[in-house]
Amino acid sequence: MGALPKKTEGDLLRYGHFDDERREYVIERPDTPLPWINYLGTEAYFGIVSNTAGGYSFYRDAKLRRLTRYRYNNAPFDLGGRYLYVRDDVTGDFWSPSWQPTRSELDDYECRHGLSYTQIASSYRKIRAETLYFVPLGETLEVWRVRVTNERDTAAELSLFSSVEFCLWDAQDDATNFQRNFSTGQVEVADGVIYHKTEYRERRDHFAYFACSEPLAGFDTQRESFLGAYRGWDNPEAVERGAATDSLAHGWQPIGSHHVRLGLAPGETREISFVLGYAENPRDDKFDPPGSQTLNKRHVRPVIERWLRPETVEEGFATLRAGWDKLLGGLHVSTPDADTNRMVNVWNAYQNMMTFNLSRSTSFFESGIGRGMGFRDSNQDLVGFVHMVPERARERILDIAATQMATGGAYHQYQPLTKRGNNDIGDGFNDDPLWLILGVAAYVKETGDASILDEPVPYDNEPGSEAPLYEHLQRSLRYTQERLGPHGLPLIGRADWNDCLNLNCFSDTPGEPFQTTENVTGGTAESVFIAGQFVLAAKELAGLAGQRGLDAEAAECLAAAEKMTGVIVEHGWDGAWFRRAYDFYGNPIGSGENDEGQIFIEPQGMCVLGGVGLDDGLAAQALDSVAERLATPHGIVLQQPAYTSYRIELGEISSYPPGYKENAGIFCHTNPWIMIAEAMTGNGDRAFDYYRRINPSAREAVSEVHRCEPYVYAQMIAGKDAPTHGEAKNSWLTGTAAWNYVAITQWILGIRPELDGLRIDPVLPSDWPGFTATRVFRGATYEISVRREAGHPAQVIVDGAPIDGVVVPPAPAGATVRVEVVVS
Ligand code: BGC
Ligand code: NOJ
Repeated sequence: MGALPKKTEGDLLRYGHFDDERREYVIERPDTPLPWINYLGTEAYFGIVSNTAGGYSFYRDAKLRRLTRYRYNNAPFDLGGRYLYVRDDVTGDFWSPSWQPTRSELDDYECRHGLSYTQIASSYRKIRAETLYFVPLGETLEVWRVRVTNERDTAAELSLFSSVEFCLWDAQDDATNFQRNFSTGQVEVADGVIYHKTEYRERRDHFAYFACSEPLAGFDTQRESFLGAYRGWDNPEAVERGAATDSLAHGWQPIGSHHVRLGLAPGETREISFVLGYAENPRDDKFDPPGSQTLNKRHVRPVIERWLRPETVEEGFATLRAGWDKLLGGLHVSTPDADTNRMVNVWNAYQNMMTFNLSRSTSFFESGIGRGMGFRDSNQDLVGFVHMVPERARERILDIAATQMATGGAYHQYQPLTKRGNNDIGDGFNDDPLWLILGVAAYVKETGDASILDEPVPYDNEPGSEAPLYEHLQRSLRYTQERLGPHGLPLIGRADWNDCLNLNCFSDTPGEPFQTTENVTGGTAESVFIAGQFVLAAKELAGLAGQRGLDAEAAECLAAAEKMTGVIVEHGWDGAWFRRAYDFYGNPIGSGENDEGQIFIEPQGMCVLGGVGLDDGLAAQALDSVAERLATPHGIVLQQPAYTSYRIELGEISSYPPGYKENAGIFCHTNPWIMIAEAMTGNGDRAFDYYRRINPSAREAVSEVHRCEPYVYAQMIAGKDAPTHGEAKNSWLTGTAAWNYVAITQWILGIRPELDGLRIDPVLPSDWPGFTATRVFRGATYEISVRREAGHPAQVIVDGAPIDGVVVPPAPAGATVRVEVVVS
């Protein structure tokens, strides 16, 4: 990296640092082990941006409304993005201020990933360029604000080139259907704005635009004219030559590139803005004049003009930051642990917003094409996010519930644009329906808004099939009850939470490849995990029923929970831990009887969350087994011993090499279940120890091992059987985000919304003297201060007066409540 600071012994393991004041992660070198990314946008227009400006943008749906193209799994890994080129027009030398794609030797470099914005600054031969990327609130566009400064003592003659490569909207089709798409690409250039209008001729009404605040010296819209045949983005011919070709794309690969000339006096700074956006015209108002092929720009011109003005950009950026202040104001903690504070107050909350918005669809590890919104995933995501934007959680719940089927079963995924269940994947993941109960319960506990239960919601989006949301929850519970196996445990179906434990895959023909969809119906494999989840969900539904005055029904739910608890204890207990399942042939999985896969983490977490084993010591015993057999310094692995060979009767889990993913990887999503279970059994030291082991900020110090971003959770960290133990993968989009947030805030710090108030019941590590927190709950602000006093009985004092128990009753919206808590 030429003149950039060399890694020294002292900072060998880090690539940047947290700027807590500004809530930014500052990356000091562009050559991070993997692209370290951020997201732009919080509502409808989104983008991914890496620390070297790689990534892409889309409107609502990364599959069906993709604005810019991206090539996955590339070499280098991250290539394609929002690239700029600066050219010294005197020497002909050119470089990318974000390092990629030219990878010139920058004199300095800094990338600041903030909350929904990224700023990349660098200097090259005394020309400084600082680019801020963000999506203004309420808009369907992104702004690139570029400031170029001449730090030389002589005048500089420069050229600035922008570039994006348009995707032809449907990202799947774009990547596959070349015989068609090489002939459909269409652009239009008017008043310096590049419009990308492929598809616009047909029934579609959407288009993209790419505009620049400066008068143009030229532009390009045909990729090969800009790059030159046989060249890549690292060496575009137009940039080398210092002149664009004013090309108009007819088919092939439409791009957008502006060329601006800048004469800068010594010390002078110029601000140039680019705006890339998405727009729709009313269907009957597409072309102007009617019958022509010219895009009607009437609706979009004023938007473009407004966002090209520096004042608008300034204000838009300030509004975005203020929006995040407000969102994060919902919960702020001050504990003795800096990594906890940073994650809870900023980064974990931020990641929750992204998982809530994008489910598992769009990251550097998810193409945006393959997966839509997950039924089980989205229900869990909202648990970490509901306190920040309750209205959006409400809307999401209703969308998800509308993809439930009349049987109570659920489509496993749905497409965000159409909100329709995704038929490719179908249903049969038997844990899915129960997550709806857990998601809704979390919403009602947080907001107190039980009216959501009366909302009419269709089944499978069928008009006329509407029933109150509450009925959907009843059907969810019944779905499990109607599908019990030989031991009385819930049938697993295609799989439960663990997508890769495919126990109804079997083959009569040895050597035949497994099929996840085969023999599902009629498959009798059972899940102890779903049993634990059922107990939890039945108790939650009992709470909601009780609140509705349905006492008999509440009692039935509790009885069902108790009955299932009995079945778990009888058939799901292995002697020192909970079993995982029974396979198609009735053999236990996750049992001492097995040669491999003897103990799994999921049932230890979920059964205890459901309250199973709390009274009779089984829970504590199961957790000791986890500590003994599954915990590692990098987190808790999913199962042990790892499967060393492929087994058709287990399915995909055994397709992974030992230590990766579901085959004994540290599947981080499951770790907080154990933290919560430890807190439930009163073990604050273990709960917090597990929390710190996978806390990304705490792992910053081992960045070279961890390799993923230190500011967000990753789905997986390689387990102890893997040669790369400690290496994280699949950062950003994971249920780990929501669950860790719940574990630390609701169970360790103990600030937990319940139907009748805010429970404050911390289970702290023994070396903490206490902590303080500000929590907004149902519109009131709770100023909480917790202190430890040895031997003192737990006590909660509200505005000076001790209360019975530890549940603070809801205060009127707008009130500020002082809560002092003493724990022993
Ligand atoms: C992965 C799982 C994931 C599933 C999604 C599997 O290959 O191992 O983690 O949930 O794909 O379909
Ligand atoms: C990731 C999936 O998104 C999630 O739904 C699943 O529970 C885990 N993988 C475990 O397989």
